[in-house]
Amino acid sequence: MSLEELMQIAIEAREKAYVPYSHFAVGAAILCTDGSFYVGANVENASYPLCMCAERNAVYSAMMDGKTIDDFEALCVAADSTGPVSPCGACRQVLSELFPKNKPIMLGNLKGETKLTNVEELLPFAFDETDL
Ligand code: THU
Repeated sequence: MSLEELMQIAIEAREKAYVPYSHFAVGAAILCTDGSFYVGANVENASYPLCMCAERNAVYSAMMDGKTIDDFEALCVAADSTGPVSPCGACRQVLSELFPKNKPIMLGNLKGETKLTNVEELLPFAFDETDL
């Protein structure tokens, strides 16, 4: 599957978002080496800090199906943002531990603008287990 096709799946995943507070739907899709893919969308809560981002829901969904970092090939994230959507700091930290450092991460928006990046670029000098 191409990154463009994975991006389309991330865009469609936005339909699963539960965003009564921000009205900002985000979708994410992770491609695995066996060709399977997992989606995530953001799920909000009246207790705002409990909101969960699309990227983390996608990673956790894949892991709950038995996938690990070694299975992940690519990640796409999409929102109706001005430019390609920028993952939040919490998601960058989680991805830095659970997603391969150099595998493609494509950020996008509904205008078709994209930015290709990776974990290393999104969170240089990340806090990790070696800091503990
Ligand atoms: N959001 C994501 O799902 N991913 C990001 O990386 C950026 C922010 C969500 C969280 C919240 O539900 C909404 O976007 C507005 O911040």
